[in-house]
Amino acid sequence: MSATFVICDNLEALSREVAGRIVATARAAVEQRGRCAIALSGGTTPRRTYQMLAAGKLKAAFPWRDVSWWWSDERCVPPDHLESNYRRALEALLAPARVAPEQIHRIEGERPPEEAARAYEAALRREIPDGALDIVLLGAGTDGHTASLFPGSPALDERERWVRAVVAEDALAVRERVTFTFPLLDRARDVLVLAAGAAKCPVVMAVRESAAFAAPRYPVARLAPAGHLTWYVDRAAAG
Ligand code: 6PG
Repeated sequence: MSATFVICDNLEALSREVAGRIVATARAAVEQRGRCAIALSGGTTPRRTYQMLAAGKLKAAFPWRDVSWWWSDERCVPPDHLESNYRRALEALLAPARVAPEQIHRIEGERPPEEAARAYEAALRREIPDGALDIVLLGAGTDGHTASLFPGSPALDERERWVRAVVAEDALAVRERVTFTFPLLDRARDVLVLAAGAAKCPVVMAVRESAAFAAPRYPVARLAPAGHLTWYVDRAAAG
């Protein structure tokens, strides 16, 4: 799987590119299959993309009624917690777009992690039996993690389960998390990795140089989806 790299002038331009890609991909999915499943990413980078999707011409063009919303990872906190990826997406995208609650499938961060992981996997297998999400949004950490798949985590070697409970390093705000695994990520039709800022430059350059060589160190380099893999990076992250 070779990735495509889209280099954008800045985060605003990157967000506009990604939002446009999401609208086009969602419209095509609905036209071909009558529905579209999107997994949102946590972190701060996608916030502007979410805001753009829920406003103006992009909002008018998006097939809201036919899209189900998922998360590629979640921190094990209640849904109203400042660190909740669900809360961040609700505020920036789902509430402004008035998405119906039945279309939103959040990871229940308030439950015991293993219980939340198994319940989420059951919901995914019920709603998307082949696991082929139409769009999966991901970020990349400065340590090369993606979703909540961190360097050295046993979850990196998961071959069966689609969702795992993990414990992140001490340095992070919330250590207990629930995350997609590579068996699920690699079933996706369209994976979009967003990376902005100079701090992401070492990871972006390593993956651009050789994903295979970077993979032992950076989990994000292991992505090999069945469909397309596109990195959206700003000039600061591209180096
Ligand atoms: C999370 C994210 C995580 C994030 C990266 C990049 O829950 O933290 O899913 O994988 O995408 O850490 O985060 P930033 O966009 O804030 O740099």
